Amino acid sequence: MREISNIVILTGAGISAESGLATFRGPEGLWEGHRVEDVATPEAFARDPVLVHRFYDARRANLKTVAPNAAHLALARLDAEWPGELLIVTQNVDDLHERAGAKRILHMHGELRSAWCLACDARSRWEEDLGDHPPCPSCGAAGRLRPDIVWFGEMPYAMEAIDAALMNADLFVSIGTSGAVYPAAGFVQTARYRGAETLEMNLEPSLGSFHFHESRTGRAGELVPQWVEEMLR
Ligand code: APR
Repeated sequence: MREISNIVILTGAGISAESGLATFRGPEGLWEGHRVEDVATPEAFARDPVLVHRFYDARRANLKTVAPNAAHLALARLDAEWPGELLIVTQNVDDLHERAGAKRILHMHGELRSAWCLACDARSRWEEDLGDHPPCPSCGAAGRLRPDIVWFGEMPYAMEAIDAALMNADLFVSIGTSGAVYPAAGFVQTARYRGAETLEMNLEPSLGSFHFHESRTGRAGELVPQWVEEMLR
């Protein structure tokens, strides 16, 4: 087996499920509660910004009621102690990786705690409600802030950095994602094509499980700490 030095870890909603944040496609899934077209598209925001702001304001407020779980904490420990390169690419817009202490994180779908001004293009850290149409902290324009979330049909963030990391990875690990949404669902194929080992940890086999050298099924709160112990042994 190839010497492992550079690790890329992809996380999805499943890693935050045990912190109490709903996943998107489970029985209690977030999108089940809201039709995707109603909240997570640029068209929805143009049509009904109040509804979209209310949806994300509720999710932002919910962040205050949850905490990182054992899987987030284990990844933060690996981030701190792993001697090689390590990158956590998360599809999640929560801040649980940061609050667990991880540092090397890329949010490819944006963040609930960030707002984007459509007048001056500036991003600003955001804790409160955008539904009150607050002024942009950078340019002062009122009512021009949108959630800094990558919506369906929009380009994910940091794709060049992610592709570069995948090209250079010795190990690609996918945690808590259904493999339903691209480009993230294709990362395993890129990594494998470049000769990386690939490991999936998920509550059930994902849509792309067959691409992985190894697939472990179970709760992230159990599987991820076990895996980190193995890596740091
Ligand atoms: N431990 C591990 N995996 C879990 C757990 C758990 N405790 N609970 C649920 N899962 C798994 C589910 O089995 C599912 O395969 O997590 C996965 C979550 O899948 P989705 O709900 O589809 O979430 P995700 O893959 O992150 O969605 C990707 O789709 O809607 C868009 O932009 C949104 O970032 C999101 C993207």
